[in-house]
Amino acid sequence: MESFDIFLVCPPGFETTLAEEARALGYAPEIAIGGVTVSGGWLDVWRCNLHLRGAARVLARLGAFRAMHIAQLDKRARKFPFSDILRSDIPVKVEVSCHKSRIYHEKAAKQRIVGALNAQGLSVSDEATLTLKTRIEDDLCTFSIDTSGEPLHKRGHKLQIGKAPMRETLAALFLRQMGYDGTQAVVDPMCGSGTFVIEAAEIAAGLPPGRDRAFAFENLAGFDRRAWDAMRAAQPVEAKPVFFGSDRDDGAIRASIANADRAGVAPLTTFTRAAISDLAPPESAPGIVIVNPPYGARIGQRKLLFALYGAMGKTLTERFKGWRVGIITSDPGLAKATGLQFLPALPPVQHGGLRIALYRTGPLP
Ligand SMILES: C[S@@+](CC[C@H](N)C(=O)[O-])C[C@H]1O[C@@H](n2cnc3c(N)ncnc32)[C@H](O)[C@@H]1O
Repeated sequence: MESFDIFLVCPPGFETTLAEEARALGYAPEIAIGGVTVSGGWLDVWRCNLHLRGAARVLARLGAFRAMHIAQLDKRARKFPFSDILRSDIPVKVEVSCHKSRIYHEKAAKQRIVGALNAQGLSVSDEATLTLKTRIEDDLCTFSIDTSGEPLHKRGHKLQIGKAPMRETLAALFLRQMGYDGTQAVVDPMCGSGTFVIEAAEIAAGLPPGRDRAFAFENLAGFDRRAWDAMRAAQPVEAKPVFFGSDRDDGAIRASIANADRAGVAPLTTFTRAAISDLAPPESAPGIVIVNPPYGARIGQRKLLFALYGAMGKTLTERFKGWRVGIITSDPGLAKATGLQFLPALPPVQHGGLRIALYRTGPLP
């Protein structure tokens, strides 16, 4: 099994941005719905898990066969070389989904696949951390292994979170959509647990997002710990301390400082307690303001949010000349309340049951 399809999952709406990131890592991505496909071997699977900041998980496509009925599925699954990839001492969880296929009974299909695995001396458990995903679509049965395990936004550093934390993966994709390339200063004036600021500082410092966490692929046959340790040994680059977060909430600032410390970017970041109206630009060349203000409030509270977005727009317009601003919100009316001039809209994405979008400005006049 030299080269196979590697599917990089992301929320719908972010495919093009994730494809850009995969291209920057040297791949030739093909865009699909809810992710992008690249081609590679197991070292590429490790690399994608280690380096991609925007992927939610990395699936390795193991192979596929046609199955027109359940007995055929049973027969072909028994011949499928699962034991080349899975270990007999580590159980696997089996997930099955059927779409537009003659085999439509997911429970029955799962039973046959479990039987095939057991026949090869492999054990199955619904509690296993390793997942074998079976997709039966148009009578084609495709097996993939989820090589990430815990979703990739869990970098292992943000242990303290605020009320509505942004996922690291989404923060990284929004930073990319802002044109952040690791060289600009970044300010988040409502930083919560510090996600944008820490993510930006890690990018500047060349710290791979997966450097400190475990992955499901470590439990596959053929995993080579020495080679993996060599791959993930970070080679940090020198970066300027130009990453600033503020929030009016004391707890948020304490959490951000602790999270930045765990991520190893404390020397690059500054977190200060301040309300948006007291925000002042740092002494750096103009860079990027990226902010995820509160939104999605119940009727009645929306009025307060209009005032908050208005105050933010006023502060940024008056004090952040030359900076580019990115606001993430679910509410176009609130974005408009800032009074800022936005560039053409990007596709919205699903987050926490809401459709959120990035509203970007050019350099403020
Ligand atoms: C949606 S959360 C931001 C979450 C953050 N992006 C993260 O990943 O944790 C909004 C933040 O805005 C802060 N906030 C609300 N009103 C503010 C104000 N007037 N000035 C400064 N911060 C404010 C809240 O304390 C909260 O932490």
